[in-house]
Amino acid sequence: MAEPTPATLPEVIVTPVRPGVFHIFNPFVRTHVLGDDAFVALLGELAGDGGGGAPAERAIRAVDATVSPFRDGLLGDPTGLDRDATLDGAPALDVAAAIELARKRQLVADDPKAYAASIGPRRNVLDRKRIGNIHQQVGEHVLLELRRRSVDEWWVDQKFTADRRGPREGPYRWVQGTFMDAVYDRDDLAEHTVLDFGCGPGLFTRLFASRGARVVGVDTNPDHLETARALCAEDGLTERVELHELALPVDEGLAALGDRRFDLIFLSDVLMFYFYSYDTRVELDPVALLRTLAGLLAAGGRIAVLEPHGTFWQHPWLGAPERPFTIVTEHRHRRTGVTPTLEELSRAAEAAGLGIVRARELVADDPAPGDRAQGFAAEFPLWWFLELGRVEGTG
Ligand SMILES: C[S@@+](CC[C@H](N)C(=O)[O-])C[C@H]1O[C@@H](n2cnc3c(N)ncnc32)[C@H](O)[C@@H]1O
Repeated sequence: MAEPTPATLPEVIVTPVRPGVFHIFNPFVRTHVLGDDAFVALLGELAGDGGGGAPAERAIRAVDATVSPFRDGLLGDPTGLDRDATLDGAPALDVAAAIELARKRQLVADDPKAYAASIGPRRNVLDRKRIGNIHQQVGEHVLLELRRRSVDEWWVDQKFTADRRGPREGPYRWVQGTFMDAVYDRDDLAEHTVLDFGCGPGLFTRLFASRGARVVGVDTNPDHLETARALCAEDGLTERVELHELALPVDEGLAALGDRRFDLIFLSDVLMFYFYSYDTRVELDPVALLRTLAGLLAAGGRIAVLEPHGTFWQHPWLGAPERPFTIVTEHRHRRTGVTPTLEELSRAAEAAGLGIVRARELVADDPAPGDRAQGFAAEFPLWWFLELGRVEGTG
């Protein structure tokens, strides 16, 4: 019986790198092969009617150029393209070996239906058929490629400087940090009460406290809280800050706060986990969380949510640094979802008796020429900032 002919996949993107050398990129699974024109032609033949018999023998040059999109942290170039790669020294492959490479890197599939079904969140810890949502993929990268046990530890390393005092150079600093410095000035916060929900090592807890607020930080991770405690002490903020370990479910964890109420409840890069869980064993409910938090608001208080932008996060950074473009690989069906869409967020807020009263899309100012990350962050917002307030008659 003849071997089944693999079909090329419709989402594969071919980009010329230099004459006769192409990047062939699957933006869903983020795999790359660097190939010559014979390799691209072979993919074209495989996409034919499938009944054309074995492609003729010839020499092809192609190498696997896949690197983990998370190698430089969450805000490294999610395209993972090595723009300086060459085929120099690449061995000649025969047709069978070239097809095998294309198959392994999911540029072709024997069964496109099975391939399509594999692009989605994992259902449980044993599910190896699906590639997983981004949080699950990060977990796998940390465990298998970096051989580290804890995603939490990796997450702080890729966001913060070694002393944990602030974000490392990159979008966390020049987008998230710059925005937050500007949006909360001293007058806004003086003597206000703030709950920093999922405070991590306390970056924003310290920002609010240094601007005169009384802040309660809660987090599920005791190591982050320990770091936050030490940094607050170094900054002389201990008097203004309380830190509590948050037990789940949230209602129980927040019970330690008694009947206190807050002018501002702040969530940075945390609400997304209530929509897209990283742990298939933990069910988190965004509506229940927002309802609980709404109950902790003082009169006129706001819930501020700083989240990865629901459209642009983790989408490829293509084009020239100054003229970046991206391809949006998913929107409505969040197969590799990171964070909710605006509608999902709005619906959860509505169900909790809240409405969006202010929305901002965060972009970098004044990108340095030639810096692709800055160019992208100046054009496409990596985060959005939404303020939620109580809406009478809903929830
Ligand atoms: C991405 S970090 C953000 C930390 C901090 N807000 C910041 O922006 O620097 C997410 C934080 O949420 C905490 N966390 C994890 N699961 C949580 C949950 N179910 N509820 C609240 N916080 C959680 C983690 O320990 C971590 O510190």
